[in-house]
Amino acid sequence: MSSTSESPAVEQTAELVECAWRAPGRVNLIGEHTDYNEGFCLPMAIPQGCTATVSPLAEPVLEIISVQREAPVELALDELAPGALAEEDQWAGYAAGVAWALRERGHQVPGLSITVDGDVPSGAGLSSSAALECSVAGALNDHLGLGLEPSELVAVARQAENDFVGAPTGGMDQLASIFGERGRVLLCDMRTLAVEPVPFDLEAAGLTLLVIDTKAPHQLTDGPYGERREACAQAARLLGVPALRDLSLEELSDAMDRLSDETLRKRARHVITENDRTLACADLLRTGQLRQIGPLLTASHASMRDDFEITVPEVDLAVEVLLAFGAFGARMTGGGFGGCVIGLMEPAQARAASLAVVAAFAGRDYPEPVSFTVTAAVGAHRLD
Ligand code: GLA
Repeated sequence: MSSTSESPAVEQTAELVECAWRAPGRVNLIGEHTDYNEGFCLPMAIPQGCTATVSPLAEPVLEIISVQREAPVELALDELAPGALAEEDQWAGYAAGVAWALRERGHQVPGLSITVDGDVPSGAGLSSSAALECSVAGALNDHLGLGLEPSELVAVARQAENDFVGAPTGGMDQLASIFGERGRVLLCDMRTLAVEPVPFDLEAAGLTLLVIDTKAPHQLTDGPYGERREACAQAARLLGVPALRDLSLEELSDAMDRLSDETLRKRARHVITENDRTLACADLLRTGQLRQIGPLLTASHASMRDDFEITVPEVDLAVEVLLAFGAFGARMTGGGFGGCVIGLMEPAQARAASLAVVAAFAGRDYPEPVSFTVTAAVGAHRLD
């Protein structure tokens, strides 16, 4: 084979500096729409995730390639700013936003090629976006030798999502993706950002966590998520507390008396009761009582359906069917308005339950749902 004397050396350099990270999506066990109320949530990383591979480019451009999409996106570094991407290239904003956030924090970002390869279903409420951001954040941190701590990677990923993409989300997903641990859910205090891993060994308990992707589309850059967030902030203001997190279950009835607006009452009641359920769930799990969390999961769903009003008929139906087929508890997981439902059940019941959901959906002419089981998986890490 003929080659010039330089080419092998060039290839070797490129190989040496190429850097790959894998970061997971998440399932939130309980504690929904509590994060931006500075409350508690209990997410876990899942086996599905995103791998980001970063290599240097000689030109001052950011090239973003997705294995799942045809056209790469290219952006000149001096144009890297929120709003710079065309409508059809928005997906790349979660990666470009990380480079932008690093630059906003004073780090030098040279020309780079970033290839992402993900298997978290997108738009399903399982945080494909956090998996993308966190894998890119980890890979850029290593590639550029920035030495950022995991908590800083969380902050960078969140800044990309909030300020570059413009999704007003609350930070749980990035925390789960970076700090995930095998066999554990993470009790996250969203005021202090402290994370306590709590044992959640489904196999040892003889249980499975079934996920039903209802295929009802879920979108967080849209209005309803932001509206819920604004309603909660307004309720906290009217009640004279920094955030709804500051109200305990004992203070609920007084808070209800003081809010005259029925919608605000419902939104606040969801958050106050959900924080309580989340802490109760973590207490049960600390002592290995996995089956006993079922009623809390189901109560969380009812609260999202009736008080926070973020469920849709497809997810309500999936929850009903899972409960009818023996789930200890079931609920929608994630931001809502569609997406996934989880059911805690015995493995022997999972197949019949998912077939029953498919049949129930067919009966109503809903799109065919997809089901799979998940375990609590490892968080973001470098691939060697
Ligand atoms: C989305 C957001 C999170 C959180 C959940 C609801 O996943 O990204 O920050 O608010 O919705 O719990």
